[in-house]
Amino acid sequence: MALDPTRKQRLRAQLVGKTLHDVPTPSVVLDLAKVTTNCERMLEATKRLGLLWRAHVKTHKTLELTRLQVGDTGPVSLIGSTVTDVENLLPLVKEYQSSNRRANVLLGFPLFPSAVPRLRTFLSQAGPGSLSVLIDNPAQLASVSALAFGLSPVPIFLKIDAGYGRAGVVPSSPACAELIDAALAAETSGDAILHGIYCHAGHSYALRETWSAMDYLADEFGGLAGVAKLIRSKSPGHDLVLSVGATPTATAIQHPLFSSSGGKDGGTDAPATATTVQNQLAELKAEGFQLEVHAGVYPTLDLQQLATHARDASLMTADDIAISVLAEVASGMSPPPPLNPTLPTQQKQETSTKKKKSTPPEAKPQQQKP
Ligand SMILES: Cc1ncc(COP(=O)(O)O)c(C=O)c1O
Repeated sequence: MALDPTRKQRLRAQLVGKTLHDVPTPSVVLDLAKVTTNCERMLEATKRLGLLWRAHVKTHKTLELTRLQVGDTGPVSLIGSTVTDVENLLPLVKEYQSSNRRANVLLGFPLFPSAVPRLRTFLSQAGPGSLSVLIDNPAQLASVSALAFGLSPVPIFLKIDAGYGRAGVVPSSPACAELIDAALAAETSGDAILHGIYCHAGHSYALRETWSAMDYLADEFGGLAGVAKLIRSKSPGHDLVLSVGATPTATAIQHPLFSSSGGKDGGTDAPATATTVQNQLAELKAEGFQLEVHAGVYPTLDLQQLATHARDASLMTADDIAISVLAEVASGMSPPPPLNPTLPTQQKQETSTKKKKSTPPEAKPQQQKP
């Protein structure tokens, strides 16, 4: 991400002004116009719906694309998937701070002890409020205290499992209640600020029906709403950010029903859950919660996103995919030759059985994919 400047200069000299025929292979090719459109669509939708926006940088890991993800105005909220991602964002965070834009980076992985020294360096350089962490177990709060020690209280998000089953506590579970109690205690002790609750609907990648990601978005908000109310029952009036998203669910907010024209010119059937989500947003806002959406694959998109049909063809087709890999083809394998058609059937089978036994797996003839 923070490419050493001389290397960047060398790459510029080598690549700027060249055609795709001149660049070395393999190369990742980004279509800037498409990335820009994908980023603008997300910024526009969150702004129109009065949602906070948090951009995940994991897909491209570049400062250039991070700038497109956060746009030109407003607070800057980012997510990195590794400590290195977080560290590499430091120059950009400082740049935004110097132009009076509040900037915060969330480590999008539950906090672990060995991350603390490097995160302390980031926090001491970027200042109070610049770094947030995810917590899904009370034991991690010891690392939060170590991170905050002598510096500043650390904003934490409680990680909630919205059905993906990879990390987080299940809403309404005893573990969830214990986590809330521990987080509120850490807040009282001055080490942490219980900033929000966070889920990531990674299981939405398995969806295949147009706009069905809207159902999972409703589940995300519904799950977080329950947890938020539990927190408020323990700490009345507590400020909280409810942060939801994976690219399929986050981009579902681009549904034309949510536009000012109410979808009349969008040419899209609105799934019933689009209305549910609209009502959820209104209710949660009325209760004083701040609502945030996060995503990371959407700037480039890929075939997997296309397969989810999270948005219809008015908003996502193969043409919206902004990333490709330029590779040199060394060999175009022919299909395996047919079995000798002149042999009698029985003999054919024996030959093929013998072949199977004697052929090591890696040398098996490949079937050509359609
Ligand atoms: C914790 C977390 N949040 C957000 C995201 C971004 O979601 P997506 O990759 O679907 O854009 C990821 C992706 O891995 C993640 O792990």
